[in-house]
Amino acid sequence: MASIYIETFGCQMNEADSQFIAERATAAGYAIAEKPHKASVVLLNTCTVRDNAERRAYGRMQHFKTLKRADPSMKLVVTGCLAEQDRHRMRTIAPHVDAVFGTKELGELADALTAWRPGFVEDECSEERSLLLPMGGQADCIADAFTHLRAYVTVQRGCSYYCTFCIVPHVRGRFDHRPTGDILAEVRQRIAQGAREITLVGQTVNAYKDPATGADFGDILGAVAQCDGLERLSFLTSHPKDFTQKLVLDMARISRLNPRLHLPIQSASNPVLRRMNRKYTIEAYMEKVAFLREHLCGWALTTDIIVGFPGESEEDFQKTLALCATNMFAQAYMFIYSPRRGTPASHWPQVDSALASDRLRSLAAVQDRSCREFHQRKVGSVVRALVQGPSRKDPTKLAAKTVDNVTVVAPLPPTLDAASFAAAPWVDVRVEASYTWGATGTMLARSHAFTEPGTLVPSPTLDLITL
Ligand code: SAH
Ligand code: F3S
Repeated sequence: MASIYIETFGCQMNEADSQFIAERATAAGYAIAEKPHKASVVLLNTCTVRDNAERRAYGRMQHFKTLKRADPSMKLVVTGCLAEQDRHRMRTIAPHVDAVFGTKELGELADALTAWRPGFVEDECSEERSLLLPMGGQADCIADAFTHLRAYVTVQRGCSYYCTFCIVPHVRGRFDHRPTGDILAEVRQRIAQGAREITLVGQTVNAYKDPATGADFGDILGAVAQCDGLERLSFLTSHPKDFTQKLVLDMARISRLNPRLHLPIQSASNPVLRRMNRKYTIEAYMEKVAFLREHLCGWALTTDIIVGFPGESEEDFQKTLALCATNMFAQAYMFIYSPRRGTPASHWPQVDSALASDRLRSLAAVQDRSCREFHQRKVGSVVRALVQGPSRKDPTKLAAKTVDNVTVVAPLPPTLDAASFAAAPWVDVRVEASYTWGATGTMLARSHAFTEPGTLVPSPTLDLITL
């Protein structure tokens, strides 16, 4: 059967686009391949937000050259932000790529998949190709029996905020908000397909405005929360400027919302925020967080931080470091500033790269402590988590995510295999140890629905007694 292997880099928007591509490919008669060396189509959904994302994508393109040589009937396709940015350059750097589709050409990509489909004969994988060893270094791929449990639904495309470091508006265009009716229809469809957790995605979801009715993001959240069968709801990413009191009050009325907010701060220094064109001050950010804490207590707060932004002084950096030392963030995604072609900040005098690396190291050390403490607080409690699948490191264990997005890993109970969890995907885990990456524990029970009481699972100790 013709099959497609999809590798996704970058943000939630790419995840959502990959889900869309997978769905269209399945409708066109493709199976989703778990390994690239057997697929008829290998698709790379790329990112260009930082230089290392770009280099990784080109690295993967080179990597797949071997496959292409062994079996020229395989098609290598590149899509996503790098495809949009480099569509011409790519022909020279990676001439073995068969087709390139920009961020607004997903429809054309789906049409091409349909057109290619009859050209792939059954079991077309050549012997030479199947002898190639499974290729290493893979990124996230859409494939397994658990993917459908989580669905990303796009509420808006593009971004019009033009932060001076960011390539996104240049490769994805300005805001294009989707009508509420379309969003609700997709949410219902995803629930019907088995989604237990819906994540509404956009670069700046909380800037959403329905093009016809003017409904805002809080209104959309409320409408989605009413959908029959919805278990959990989440959203990514929010901009501090649009994180209004109305939105917090709307959120406080929705019990199905996952208690975790991602609110990128970027820096704790006002001069830096101004040069970044972030449109808020550190004082405004702190006020918004205080309002959140007042109305949604117990929520985890996560953030993005850039160090070494042009002109960042030691004093600027110390402010960011001091803020993270207050344990304010359960998690922070920390980046060294990476100059992006065509963005204003790339023309400004740059911070020395060794200094920027030092800053990242000291910030990461402080933030990791905070993250570990957040996980440590779960030790001793029983958490309910949505299964992700067998643990990557050890398939005799199951990985799951709590509603505040903490990875928990527990041994599979005796007599239950991982696949059985696709239908009863909620697990109750007693947390016993915590790490920077998450926590480990023992599975006590599982259930079909989030609100259902758990059914006990066989415990390893009982199993030993019966032996
Ligand atoms: N609003 C978007 C932002 C996308 S980029 C969202 O959905 O999250 C994600 C993060 O990457 C940004 O918040 C920022 O911290 C970081 N980033 C973006 N451009 C960068 C650059 N040129 N160098 C380093 N980090 C960058
Ligand atoms: Fe980028 Fe700023 Fe928009 S980070 S996605 S330009 S809000």
